[in-house]
Amino acid sequence: MTGNEINEKLSALTTDQIQANLIQASHQIDMDDIVREGFPTLREVANEVSLPLSDEDIRLGEKMMQFLHNSQDPIIAEKMGLRGGVGLAGNQLGLMKKVIAVLVPNEPEHDEAGQVIPPKEAYKLQEIMYNAKIVSHSVQDAALETGEGCLSVDQEIPGFVVRHARVTVEYVNKAGEKKKIRLKNFESMCVQHEIDHTNGIMFYDH
Ligand code: NI
Ligand code: NI
Repeated sequence: MTGNEINEKLSALTTDQIQANLIQASHQIDMDDIVREGFPTLREVANEVSLPLSDEDIRLGEKMMQFLHNSQDPIIAEKMGLRGGVGLAGNQLGLMKKVIAVLVPNEPEHDEAGQVIPPKEAYKLQEIMYNAKIVSHSVQDAALETGEGCLSVDQEIPGFVVRHARVTVEYVNKAGEKKKIRLKNFESMCVQHEIDHTNGIMFYDH
């Protein structure tokens, strides 16, 4: 489906219907579930998820995380036609809930012979975050050398996206626990990109 077709299909549904479809046991989120530029939820501030978390909201977070895993698996991604992603926000699914999933892999290392050594931990950051917000940040800014992309934006938009270098983020995890974490480097950029989505902000606004 084209971006316009996806936006049109999802604009005919209520957000409750969209979420009910996404969390069906047999459903795996794919590119046809991701709204593209022009869809209203990308430009709106999402609502806080109500606590304690409902089963539906927990399952939604798990489906979003499953999508990221699928998108980073070359075989599954090719079969399902997925673009690789490290983060996804509810607004990108046409929902108005502050839920994000982030999955940042560790890079493999190389030994002296050039052999790949798998990282001890597969992921630098793997988390479903409800009601995530930045509670403090560094004075220093940073930008990814490669610029940024977004699953809701089908063309490449070059340019540095200047963000806070380090952030402290508060959120509720999928077990319903309140968490506070400090992030730097790529993980910091990634979580800021996703929190922006929950506030209706796109990367090229920066
Ligand atoms: Ni689908
Ligand atoms: Ni994005």
